[in-house]
Amino acid sequence: MKALVTGGTGTLGRLVVPRLLDAGYDVRVLSRRSRESEDGIEFAMGDLVTGAGIEAAVEGAEIIIHAAGTMKGDEDKAEQLVQAASRAGTRHLVYISVVGAERIPVTSWIDHAMFSYFESKRAAERVVAKSGLPWTTLRATQFHESLLMLVQKMAKLPVIPVPAGWSFQPIDAGEVADQLVDLALGTPSGLAPEMAGPRAYEMAELVRIYLKASGKHRLILPAWTPGKAARAVRAGANLAPDQAVGRRTWEEFLALHVSGPTHVRQGQLGRPGG
Ligand SMILES: NC(=O)c1ccc[n+]([C@@H]2O[C@H](COP(=O)([O-])OP(=O)(O)OC[C@H]3O[C@@H](n4cnc5c(N)ncnc54)[C@H](OP(=O)(O)O)[C@@H]3O)[C@@H](O)[C@H]2O)c1
Repeated sequence: MKALVTGGTGTLGRLVVPRLLDAGYDVRVLSRRSRESEDGIEFAMGDLVTGAGIEAAVEGAEIIIHAAGTMKGDEDKAEQLVQAASRAGTRHLVYISVVGAERIPVTSWIDHAMFSYFESKRAAERVVAKSGLPWTTLRATQFHESLLMLVQKMAKLPVIPVPAGWSFQPIDAGEVADQLVDLALGTPSGLAPEMAGPRAYEMAELVRIYLKASGKHRLILPAWTPGKAARAVRAGANLAPDQAVGRRTWEEFLALHVSGPTHVRQGQLGRPGG
């Protein structure tokens, strides 16, 4: 039994791989860089933007967990993948999308400038759904790791502008990996129930909790954000309060990953169960 994990070198995909190995799969990981195979993991070099190497990567893969993604153009990457997977006769394609993909309207240039990611995820969802392959798509909220990177960047400023009224419901990437693998091993089920973290935090609160955990002191300045998409976010379109199934909180994540007054133990980021 062979499984392909696109994005198997990323925050989420790295956590998916050991879970598939535990389930008895031979795992192939797609990466744009060449890597030596290791610990039962085969690396296939390929690029979902150009299509190079994708035919070989999907060959023989019964299931594909598609966790490769960037801020832009995920619909084109999905298209490359489904075309190759259709030719290879893949039995189950599992895609990770984002909560709010269908609820955040991206119409004006300002919406595009701030939220084209959600539009691209929605377009990629459609590519998967129309692929003719048996599929499952899971929408999750933001991973702790992504929000940590964001607040770390913000905290480089002496005064931190924080979009007023925005909230996030961060989730543990390991818990999302558990669910993705469960879905992949089950029957293709289309759009799966969303997965969100245990509670929603206003952005300013996320920043304050991080500052406290890392012993930093900064001023937080509320900033108003224009556009329809930002309005939808202020109304909670990126949250799933009824699907708050995640267990690990932001505070618990930071306790594991932020130590001392200023630094993060980088080596621990993204570790299975970490
Ligand atoms: N992070 C979040 O908060 C969050 C929330 C909900 C959903 N998601 C979705 O979950 C997925 C994984 O997110 P993540 O945070 O784990 O991502 P990540 O850490 O940024 O990793 C991105 C992965 O995508 C691969 N990739 C990027 N461009 C590629 C290309 N052209 N061809 C082949 N592979 C490519 C990279 O592989 P190489 O660099 O090795 O080539 C890397 O493994 C994404 O689809 C994202 O939209 C993320």
